[in-house]
Amino acid sequence: MLRIGFLTSGGDCQALNAAMRGVFKCINNNAKEPVEFYGFEDGYKGLIYGKFHMLTGKDFKGILTRGGTILGTSRVPFKTIREPDENGLDKVKAMKQTYYKLQLDCLVMGGGNGSTKTANLLSQEGLNVVTLPKTIDNDLWGTDMTFGFQSAVDIATKCVDDIHTTASSHGRVFIVEIMGHKVGWLPLNAGIAGGADIILIPEIPYDIKKVVEAIEERDRSGSRFTVIVVAEGAISKEDAKLSKKEFKKKRAASKFPSVSYEVADAIMKATGREVRVTVPGHTQRGGAPDPYDRVFATRLGAEAGRLILRKEYGYMVGYRNREIVKVPLSEVAGKLKTVDPKAEIIKEAKLIGISFGD
Ligand code: F6P
Repeated sequence: MLRIGFLTSGGDCQALNAAMRGVFKCINNNAKEPVEFYGFEDGYKGLIYGKFHMLTGKDFKGILTRGGTILGTSRVPFKTIREPDENGLDKVKAMKQTYYKLQLDCLVMGGGNGSTKTANLLSQEGLNVVTLPKTIDNDLWGTDMTFGFQSAVDIATKCVDDIHTTASSHGRVFIVEIMGHKVGWLPLNAGIAGGADIILIPEIPYDIKKVVEAIEERDRSGSRFTVIVVAEGAISKEDAKLSKKEFKKKRAASKFPSVSYEVADAIMKATGREVRVTVPGHTQRGGAPDPYDRVFATRLGAEAGRLILRKEYGYMVGYRNREIVKVPLSEVAGKLKTVDPKAEIIKEAKLIGISFGD
């Protein structure tokens, strides 16, 4: 008998279900022995508090195209994982107990950065773990691409596209704030795909004077409007000099709900132009996976299934140089994949006149 547990952790994204379906189908079709599947509810909480249910073929039917996660998810920050819960429960011990009680052969975890750190910890504690790289942020080290990312690029791009008509009618400056947490992959790609004039990402701190110059240059060339994509983690050159603590304090005291509103205010003051901010927010994580992510997550799922059947544990299934690869969890955990400001894509964007405010 083979016993496999599934859990999804952290912010959800498109194609989590498609990935789990890939694992299930691969194992179900190829295992030489009977298999039991268990689903832990709401991420690591399900493993800690023993909240799970058995999964059968029925649970995996019709979920290739379904967004979100059939298991539910939650955030259990890695930095608190070694701290006892409010009732004094040792979370790591509790997770191990659940795993051993169910006599699991492997735990499959779909998650991003923090969740992969916890998966690595469990692997170091002796559990068999295989992880699937999910996140719209695409910031997971060890894989060129995460699933959810392309679907989010589609949604964010549609938003940048649609803003153009209203920006043009009113001759306004429009800011679209795009998710991505501390990195710029999503804003960069949606910005280029949507034809943004200015893109501000965390990896390239901006100078507001340069942003204003780029707007004025467009005005001079006869363009009635400017579309700016601002990453939710964008940061000014000035703020980039602050310590983490100082920056957090400054942000907390700011009257602006996010960096986009701060940029908008500065542009209004400097140019007297009408500026509007649009925040698509969590819609970027919502809805059905696009075809790319359906294929990608299915492939990663099948390869994760293959690893489990070969009893190869302690890996994230990743994608490097157009090939699906297994990456040791110890290599992935704790690293962030950021956009290199000197990358070709940045140079090419600059060649076609996109300003990064630097
Ligand atoms: O990690 C995915 C993500 O959507 C980030 O882009 C964003 O910063 C964050 O999650 C939002 O988190 P929450 O869903 O907890 O508001």
